[in-house]
Amino acid sequence: MNAQIKSMESFWMPFTGNRAFKKKPRLVERASGMFYYTPGGREILDMVAGLWCCNAGHGHPKVVEAIQAQAAEMDYAPHFNFGHPAAFEAAEMLASLTPNDINYSFFTNSGSEAVDTALKIALAYQKERGQSSRTRLIGRERSYHGVGFGGISVGGIPYNRMQFSNSLIPGVDHLPHTHQLDRNAFSRGLPEHGIELADELENIVNLHHPSNVAAVIVEPIAGSAGVLIPPRGYLKRLREICDKHDILLIFDEVITGFGRLGHNFAAQAFDVTPDLITSAKGLTGGAVPMGAVFVHDRIYDEFMSKPGGAIELFHGYTYSAHPLAIAACRATQEVYSSEGLFQRAAEMAPLFEDALHSLKGEPHVIDVRNYGLMGAVEMESIEGQPGARGMEMLQRTFDAGLMVRLTGDIMAFSPPLIIEETHIQQAIDTIRKILRAL
Ligand SMILES: Cc1ncc(COP(=O)(O)O)c(C=O)c1O
Repeated sequence: MNAQIKSMESFWMPFTGNRAFKKKPRLVERASGMFYYTPGGREILDMVAGLWCCNAGHGHPKVVEAIQAQAAEMDYAPHFNFGHPAAFEAAEMLASLTPNDINYSFFTNSGSEAVDTALKIALAYQKERGQSSRTRLIGRERSYHGVGFGGISVGGIPYNRMQFSNSLIPGVDHLPHTHQLDRNAFSRGLPEHGIELADELENIVNLHHPSNVAAVIVEPIAGSAGVLIPPRGYLKRLREICDKHDILLIFDEVITGFGRLGHNFAAQAFDVTPDLITSAKGLTGGAVPMGAVFVHDRIYDEFMSKPGGAIELFHGYTYSAHPLAIAACRATQEVYSSEGLFQRAAEMAPLFEDALHSLKGEPHVIDVRNYGLMGAVEMESIEGQPGARGMEMLQRTFDAGLMVRLTGDIMAFSPPLIIEETHIQQAIDTIRKILRAL
């Protein structure tokens, strides 16, 4: 255990094997630009933007200054029947980044809250427009939509559901996942095969009858399950089927938003416009917790069309549009824009792709995949011990000065968009060496 900490016992760590971690902790206590620093001062190259969030790198002076200034000016403001001007300005600014007909923001504090909020907006919208039989939700296998009851119900990661399986919300189906190594291994960009997997949506919708289906939610690229990239044409096909049956399409862009794919959102990268977009992480670059749901005009208008001034949606958080989050959001977005970071992500993507794919043929590597500045190297599992190689990799990369994300035996990358070629090379060289020694 670290000498500076008296006891690590009381912090019940999230999504972590607490006993194993506390025996052999991996601690960081400072960050700047592309790097974390351990309590002993060792440099750790951040290849995962913390947890897919620090898209502008760590500790950007303009973001730090904005947060400090806001803390001094006003700590907190309620947004139930009161308002802080900066929150309205942030929403206006965000409307200029979202697809054309998506111009409204509902602010939350996390991706999980954004997902549950989006599901609630979808259900309430169907009721508001007189289609109250539309209550069914459709998610996808191997998707991650956070940890709220809505999110784990539409989510498709078995471990996240298993301890709660009797308490998941009813009326949910799942599309098949699109990860098909037999046909698509070592794809660069969008995999060639699998568009027909979207047609399962038609089957599910017809099984229940379209008049009972409210919304479909997918991550354009599934992040947490190991960077699963949609087959060519797949997302467009989903959109067509939703249009045909008048079903809402929700893109969970908690990871893919804010430059990760070289565009504002995956919606623009793939030229498919959903009805709702969930977001968090890159919204503030991770500096202050914040999430948002971006809402199509048609949906917002439906809620506003009723006469009278009553509350239109019975939903909200004490910390919706918290002043510190809004300050971090506005400053981070200003940095993205003034430093051209989304464009930079697009420019660095081919380099990143070549470097990642140079690991093809190294020991244990059964797939490499990428899109924008998001990528994964999948390793073959040790027989009978799925995830063991991944944990070994996590420890060895950290020991060698690298932070990557491991999901089972899949190593995922989503570096800050400020990454330089030398960082990419350093990461790949380190990983190559470790793979050869594993
Ligand atoms: C696609 C997606 N949705 C939702 C979430 C949940 O976000 P949070 O951890 O901020 O609640 C995540 C987090 O990784 C995510 O990747």
